[in-house]
This record gives sequence, structure tokens and C-alpha cells, in this order.
Amino acid sequence: MNICTKNSPLGDLGVESKNSSLTNNHLQKQKVPLGGFRGLVPCLELRETPCFLCETLCYLKNNSKKSIFKMKQYTNVKDLGNLQQAVREALEMKQNRFAYKHLGENKTLLMVFFNSSLRTRLSTQKAGMNLGMNTIVLDINQGAWKLETERGVIMDGEKPEHILEAIPVMGAYCDVIGVRAFAQFEDKAYDYNETIINQFIEYSGKPVFSMEAATGHPLQAFADLITIEEYKKQERPKVVLTWAPHPRALPQAVPNSFADFMNEADVDFVITHPEGYELADEFVRGAKVEYDQMKAFEDADFIYAKNWAAYQNPNYGKILSTDRNWTVSARQMAVTNDAHFMHCLPVRRNMIVTDDVIESPQSIVIPQAANREISAQWVIKKMISL
Ligand code: CP
Repeated sequence: MNICTKNSPLGDLGVESKNSSLTNNHLQKQKVPLGGFRGLVPCLELRETPCFLCETLCYLKNNSKKSIFKMKQYTNVKDLGNLQQAVREALEMKQNRFAYKHLGENKTLLMVFFNSSLRTRLSTQKAGMNLGMNTIVLDINQGAWKLETERGVIMDGEKPEHILEAIPVMGAYCDVIGVRAFAQFEDKAYDYNETIINQFIEYSGKPVFSMEAATGHPLQAFADLITIEEYKKQERPKVVLTWAPHPRALPQAVPNSFADFMNEADVDFVITHPEGYELADEFVRGAKVEYDQMKAFEDADFIYAKNWAAYQNPNYGKILSTDRNWTVSARQMAVTNDAHFMHCLPVRRNMIVTDDVIESPQSIVIPQAANREISAQWVIKKMISL
């Protein structure tokens, strides 16, 4: 009899037999944990041979550990390796973006969207095409089967497919996968464990990059840093990340990743927001936090505006302020060092920033967005290079 535990994800739980310590808790309705196939039910069955699903998952899990790709995943600044070198290479590639067209020949980029997009969709597809790749775009909420993401659920409702089958199937059709899956603000641990994208990383068997996940938007932050490098007037510019009001509760992904990158870059980095909007320590990492927005803006070279909902308990995902004194206007920009205005877009005018500031010559939101093609191309290139 074979219970398929030796190589199976169940081994991670120390499961040795059907009468093992795997408790009913593991079988109860729960959100799929990090490494979501751990405890997958088929492995519990005594069989002459491992079930097909289990065998497939074991293969993908083991195979993914022996990846020949230089970059297996991209979810944060550390995945880039040497940051200065990455920026330098990206800027070089921008001058000749079709030089690597041979790398992507007969390779397929799959872009999976759980949420809407304009820039990420277009720039990442363009990046793949620059590299000679075929691209497939899957909008999970438009035309695909609705996906169940919790295990233990009796699937008698609206969702006919489980993500635990869908991920390895998607991996079978491509060479690289980009995933967009925003925070849902229902369960902070579920969001901050990056439950969805981590399952793609572990079980697709292919390199996976974030196209904005629950806690980070690293392609955006990489493009932001490339843009700052292009527009900076002094070696170590002052860069200010400012919260600004918004009518809807937005995830912390963009400010988290921006802080993640600025903390590793050669910049004087300051974060300003109303009290209660403190970001997670793992992203702030001791950066200066100034609650007086005007003071924070003094002598700044770059102003990066973004809204985010509260992160700290008990207000996770809530809007604590809509104070339009925080809207970036000529009043605040006047105390800067003729700062450039940045925003990841889309932006709500006259909530986040006034018309005159975003339309001013100091606004670099369009070149910033254009650099999304470059950051995506650098990352995908690393993933398909042998
Ligand atoms: N900045 C950004 O990611 O834009 P989209 O949401 O339009 O992709």
C-alpha cells in the first residue's frame, strides 16, 4: 500500500500513516494555508499507487526546487539581487529593448488577473512581446471559471473550480506566470501571508512574478526607482511618500513596495500620513515617519502620493480619514525643492492631487508609467534566461 507521504506535501506535516497526527482541524473548512497543498485530501487515502493529483503535485513541488531559472520568483526588492545593478541594466535595456528577442522564442508568458488593470496588463504584455514571447491573458473574473480558494468547502455554490487544481494546470501551459491578486481586507493574516501568489509560486512549477499582490507591487516600485534614477538632480535625493485621501479603502501594496525599495536605494526617505495609517514594520524598516505633511515636504526632490487603508489593528482595511488637507496641491509643493510629482496611477484627481499639480511640468506620472514596461521586461528576462 502506498500512502504517498514520502515525497508528498503531507510530509511537511509529519504525516506518516492514515492514523497519523493529522487532526480534523486540517480537514475543516479553512482558507488554504501557505503552501496550500499540505494536507490535501487525496494523500490520505490508502492506495496501491499514488493518486494522479498527488503524483502531479509531488512532481511539481520537487521539480520547482531544482529550477534552472536564474530568478524563480519576484515579489520584493530582495528578489532583484543587486539593486543598483538591476537599475543600471534596466536603463541599458531601455535603450535597446528588442535586443533580447531571441530569449523568448517559443516561450509563453501567462498573465493571470484576479483584479482590474490598465498599466500592468499593457506594459507586461509589451515586455513579453519585446522579449519575443507569446502572451496569454486570463481574467479570472471574466470568462474563466470562478475559483474556490478555501479548502474543505463543499463546492455546491457559485465556484465550479478549485484554485488547487487550477494553478498546476495554468503552469502546464506556460513558461512564466504573472499574477495580480489584491488584498481582500477580510482576513489580515490571509492577505499578509500572500496566500494566493504563494500558492502559484509553490505549485505552478514555473517562475512567478507579482503584478500586484496583497501586500506588494514590486514591478511598480522597480519602475518608480528607475524613474527616480532618471530624474534625480542630486546624488541622494529626498523622496517623500505621502498618504492622500480616497473615497474607497485601498490596499497597502503600493506604499509597502515603494518603502521596500526606497529603504534599499540611495535616497533620503520620509513617509508622511495621518496618525493611524502606520504601515507594517517589515516595509517601513525604521524609515523616518513625519506626521506633519508640510514639514515632510520641505526640500523634497520627489513627492510620491498614494492612498492606503489602515494596516494596524483593529482598523485593518478601514478608512480613518478623508481629510482633503492632505490632497497634494500647490500649497505643499511650494515648500519642496521644485519636487517631481509621482503616482502609480490610476489617480483620483482633486482627491489625491490637484489638477494643476498633476498637469505641471514637474509631474512625471507618464514617464513613470512608461517605465513599467522596462521593469517588467527586466524581471521576465531574468526568468527566461538560462
Ligand atoms: N499602477 C498600476 O498597477 O496600474 P494598473 O492597476 O492600471 O495596472
